[in-house]
Amino acid sequence: APDIDVNKVKAHLQEFQAIAERNGGNRRSTGTGYDQSVAYVKGKLQAAGFTVTEQPCTSGCTSGSGPNVIAEWPKGDADSVYMFGAHLDGVSAGPGMNDNGSGSAALLENALELARQNPTMLNRVRFAWWTDEEQGLNGSDFYVRSLSSGDRAKIKAYYNFDMVASTNGGYFINHINSAAAAPMKEYWASLDLAPEENTEGAGRSDDYSFERYSIATSGYAMGASARKTSAQAAKWGGTAGRAYDPCYHASCDTISNINLTGLNRASDGIAYTLWEQAVGDEAPAD
Ligand code: PHE
Ligand code: ZN
Ligand code: ZN
Ligand code: ZN
Repeated sequence: APDIDVNKVKAHLQEFQAIAERNGGNRRSTGTGYDQSVAYVKGKLQAAGFTVTEQPCTSGCTSGSGPNVIAEWPKGDADSVYMFGAHLDGVSAGPGMNDNGSGSAALLENALELARQNPTMLNRVRFAWWTDEEQGLNGSDFYVRSLSSGDRAKIKAYYNFDMVASTNGGYFINHINSAAAAPMKEYWASLDLAPEENTEGAGRSDDYSFERYSIATSGYAMGASARKTSAQAAKWGGTAGRAYDPCYHASCDTISNINLTGLNRASDGIAYTLWEQAVGDEAPAD
């Protein structure tokens, strides 16, 4: 798998920060900051060769919410799909750089790197940037509900990325002992990070929309408002007794509220997982 350049991920975050600043300081799903975030992601994907779908959320979303953004890489077995998603909206309190510019940017750079490398694919990869997560996982719920049961059955796993750069964070994996989580865990274990189950995030982000339909889910997170334990501070560093992200849903969730080391490790683990699941170690050369 390629090494994702964290400086490129950071450059996407800087664009999201600038978008928030031009639009009243936030990127909430019903605002122009969200619309411009959609346009930025879509523009980068299209320039890389993706066909990009804006899916309007016509039921269950907050009135006036912008669309989901969906981009499938058009190679590999279309009946065997691995999805990677992140919510693109934020709360109204601030620019939403860790929550969830971090996951959105890590995913975007992975999509762009896949297009640059253009490997022979075994399986399909589909990327999604969700709307209106903050009001109840609404964009992802609409997406999964809208699929036919046949199309749902083609999704072999969904990987979620919500808050992957918390400044006092830990290394958390959703459903860490599941088969779907194996490559995510393998990558962070290879860095000796001793990842733990994402108990704080259970049922609280877009992976839950898939889980409710019995689709296998996993993902990375570095934590929100829960506090780091002393055992966690001993193994990961940081401050025990303090929130994983002290700027969770606050105005200080700016580009300064980003843990670049964590962001790099999440970005690279996404690439590792994508390659393992969809490119395949033994993929024959073209
Ligand atoms: N889904 C939450 C949000 O976007 C983030 C979160 C994840 C909170 C995990 C707690 C645990 O605000
Ligand atoms: Zn990297
Ligand atoms: Zn949030
Ligand atoms: Zn979030």
